[in-house]
Amino acid sequence: MSKRPIIIDTDPGIDDAVALAIALFSDKLDVKLITTVAGNVSLDKVTYNTLRLLKFYGKEIPVAKGADSPLILPLKDASNVHGKSGMEGFDFEEPDEHLLLKENAVEAMHRIIMESDEPITLVPIAPLTNIALLLKVYPEVKKNIREIVLMGGSAGRGNKGVMSEFNIATDPEAAHIVFECGLPIVMAGLDVGWKALVLQEDSVKLPSLGEVGRMAYCLFQKYRGGSMKTGLKMYDSCAIAYLLRPEMYDIAETYVGVELSGDMTAGCTLVDLKGYLGRPNNAKVCMDIDGKMFREWFLESIAECI
Ligand code: RIB
Ligand code: CA
Repeated sequence: MSKRPIIIDTDPGIDDAVALAIALFSDKLDVKLITTVAGNVSLDKVTYNTLRLLKFYGKEIPVAKGADSPLILPLKDASNVHGKSGMEGFDFEEPDEHLLLKENAVEAMHRIIMESDEPITLVPIAPLTNIALLLKVYPEVKKNIREIVLMGGSAGRGNKGVMSEFNIATDPEAAHIVFECGLPIVMAGLDVGWKALVLQEDSVKLPSLGEVGRMAYCLFQKYRGGSMKTGLKMYDSCAIAYLLRPEMYDIAETYVGVELSGDMTAGCTLVDLKGYLGRPNNAKVCMDIDGKMFREWFLESIAECI
């Protein structure tokens, strides 16, 4: 079976780091391009982290830098979760810059999507600034995009605001553009992210699974997305898990709206399961996940890396 062509938009980020590894070492996915966007930490830092990861993974994937801030809001990063560098805890080698394209993320995504003889799946695991800019500047790309499978949003409570999730709340205007674009969207939000855990008994196995496992173990000592005791949240791996093991999920097809103007609720996703808003469905929302199946899949996937 041919590999599914994807473009990953990312802001590494400790959970991004392992999600990228799983995608890059999967024999079912063909990562055509990695684009970077300001989110967990600054654009320069997430780009540097992406290049360091690719060097460590030994993967020659082109990288293109994207937006250095959200469309409207100022960037409020998540260095409190991922550390000042965005990837504290492991001593990576200096990256090779040759993978960094001269094109920016929007131009590179446009070129690769339009050149592809098979529709591309976009996999944003970061704020949606680049994806929104792509759709606005080059709307013609829609005809060759299969699906947008994103990590973000929440049908319930938030992790950045009372009801808002970090990727959406960082750039709500971009998220609004994406959710209203008419393309098939899969939303892997906090409803599954909070159950996609690496427990203590899983973490201790990581160093024996190989180089990526050892790296993950070191990064997880510094990761504040949960705790070793209650479990570390593998948010971004949820988007990759949908591509590789959709059967792990309970899915609801519904309308998702992004609140833009609420002074207490801006950035939250309204997952309208009961159709109160009377708007057509625009997303498949991952509402639940088999936590045990995820943990087994996560460890198996890390073991398949180097
Ligand atoms: O809310 C979780 C998301 O925010 C993940 O993508 C994580 O990397 C952070 O960017
Ligand atoms: Ca991320």
